[in-house]
Formats: sequence, structure tokens, C-alpha cells
Amino acid sequence: MAQSNHDFIERKVGWLIVFTLLTVSIGGLVEIVPLFFQHSTTTPVEGLKPYDPVRLVGRDVYIREGCFNCHSQMIRPFRAETERYGHYSVAGEYVYDHPFQWGSKRTGPDLHRVGGRYSDQWHRIHLINPRDVVPESNMPAFPWLDRPAKSDDIEAKMKALRKVGVPYTDEEIQGARKALEGKTELDALVAYLQGLGTALQAGKAPSAAPAAEAAPAAAPAAAEALGKVFFEVGSSTLPADAAAAVEATAKFLKDKADAKIDVTGYTDKTGDTEKNLELAKERAKAVREALKAAGVAEDRINMKPPVSITGSGDNAEARRVELNPGS
Ligand code: HEC
Repeated sequence: MAQSNHDFIERKVGWLIVFTLLTVSIGGLVEIVPLFFQHSTTTPVEGLKPYDPVRLVGRDVYIREGCFNCHSQMIRPFRAETERYGHYSVAGEYVYDHPFQWGSKRTGPDLHRVGGRYSDQWHRIHLINPRDVVPESNMPAFPWLDRPAKSDDIEAKMKALRKVGVPYTDEEIQGARKALEGKTELDALVAYLQGLGTALQAGKAPSAAPAAEAAPAAAPAAAEALGKVFFEVGSSTLPADAAAAVEATAKFLKDKADAKIDVTGYTDKTGDTEKNLELAKERAKAVREALKAAGVAEDRINMKPPVSITGSGDNAEARRVELNPGS
């Protein structure tokens, strides 16, 4: 009897399709439906706030311009990813995203933790012409974004999101148009980017997240640098005490034949950002020359884009060039 049932299904393609679909649907439902109710996927991580009107508009610009075609927003819990991008993404970070921007195509880097990594000014320059800050970039330019952001449909957007569970209050919705006054699309997009992935503080991942051994929880900035070279204010002349860092790096590269080194110039946010970034680049170049003089081949030195960090005018940390094991 069993034999003939089998025969029947195998010989009748129509029925085979029906039974296959039935099996796959049940299997799918059993796997997918519980996710809608699990604590770890429906509860926002601590500190996660719904997008304010400006960031919401920025997010729409992101979608309209197709940024998701080249950028994912999901860091997987693998070492190679967490070292490059920071803490892996957790489901609770996306509960206010409708639709989510996970993506799978990475022509450019993942952006899930890009918030706070660069200054606003860096993003503006980068979006208007990426080559101005990352000479080898093949990201398209988006010069037209410097125009007023559309605000006449913001209330409708927020109300729609409220229907699907984003907890906007009536006051927030009423104040939305005002918040957008005078903002350009570029302002909105930069605000959106600067907020990405910042709710989850390293080490504060919800307990439902995968075990920490899969991922060093520290953000890349916290990793121990091979060496740091501190410069004088406004100067890109290599200081005399740079020798130790340069030597340590040269030795590291000598010991590890396939290793490379990342050279990153830092600057603070006081004064003219463009000049600061230029200075940070010049400093990084000075360090590169010193490395070359110490016998390091140029193709083992990765020059990283300069980074602007928050700091006061006399903050030595902000006037440094960092040497890190590279990729
Ligand atoms: C054709 C592919 C492509 C598109 C479309 C694209 N990018 Fe990029 N993006 C890149 C590449 C490649 C890089 C790496 C080089 C660089 O930094 O410019 C990059 C880098 C970036 C970075 C720096 C990330 C980091 O960690 O250094 C940001 C931020 C960024 N893109 C934002 C955007 C935004 C916002 C949009 C949409 C307006 C966008 N990109 C559209 C390819 C793309």
C-alpha cells in the first residue's frame, strides 16, 4: 500500500507539486512564525529610539538613491566582520526599521555601525564627491542632495509607521514639519548615517545574542594599536619619538610575511574640518615615509581615510596617527 502511494505521488507531477508546496509551507511556518513573537526579535535594544523626522527623511533618501544596492547594514557574528565593522548586529536594533536595510550586496563596506565613525563634514564631502576624501573610491557622487528636504508628507509617513508599531506620539508627529524646516536632503541623510548602529553600546548586547566567543565585543577603535605617533598642534612633521612606533611596526611586518599595516590619521573637530582632514592625511603620509625608510615595502602599507574624532583643542589623542594590523 505504501508502495502504491509513493508511486502515485511520483507519477503525478501535479500532486507532487502540491505535496511539495505543502511540506515546504509547513516547514517554513514552523521556522518563521516563532520569530514574530520571540523576545529577541521584537524588543528594541536598550537605547533604541524611533527615527526622528530628520533621520526618517534621510532614510528615505537612502532608499531612493539606492545606497542599499552597494551597502549592507548587517554585521554577521564572524571575527572578520566584527574586527572590521564593530559589534555584530542584533535583531533588536531593527525593530523600528520598516523596511529593514540589511541587504546582501557589499560593493562598499557595511554601514550598520558607521554612525559616529566620521564627522558630519566628512560625510558631506564624501557624498558630494567620494574621491575628495577617498581617492580610490568608486562610489558614485550624489551632488544633487544639497537641496531642500521634502516635508509635506512627513506626518502621513509617521502615522503609517505608527500603525505598524513604531511608538510616535501625537506631539512628535505634529512637530515633524518644523523639525525639517531648513534641512536639506544631505543634512537628513548625514543625520541618518550618523545614527546608524549607535544604540547598541559594545558589551550591552541583549542576552539572547549569540555567544560572545564568536565575536570580540570591542569596537575596532578599542583594539590595541601596534603604535601611535602623536603630532604637535597644526604640524605634520614627524616627531622625534615616533621611532619606537615605527620600529615596532617594521618588526611586526618582518615577523609576519603576509601581514599588512593600516595607517590612520586622526584629527579633532575644532576648526576647519577640511583642513583638519588634510592635516591628518599629511601626518599619515609622514608616518608612511618613515615606515618606508625603515625598510617596509609600500604595498604592505594601507593608507586609511582620515578620521575626525570628538576632542578639545589640545587633545593629543586627536592629533595621532595610528598603526594597526591591516587587512
Ligand atoms: C555603486 C556602489 C555604491 C553606491 C550606490 C553607494 N556607495 Fe557608498 N561606498 C561604495 C564604496 C565602493 C565605498 C568604499 C570607498 C569609499 O569610502 O568611498 C563606499 C563607502 C561609503 C561610506 C564610508 C563607509 C566606511 O565605513 O568607510 C559611506 C558612509 C557610504 N558609502 C554611504 C553611501 C550612501 C549614503 C549612499 C547612497 C546615497 C551610497 N554610499 C551609495 C559604493 C557605493
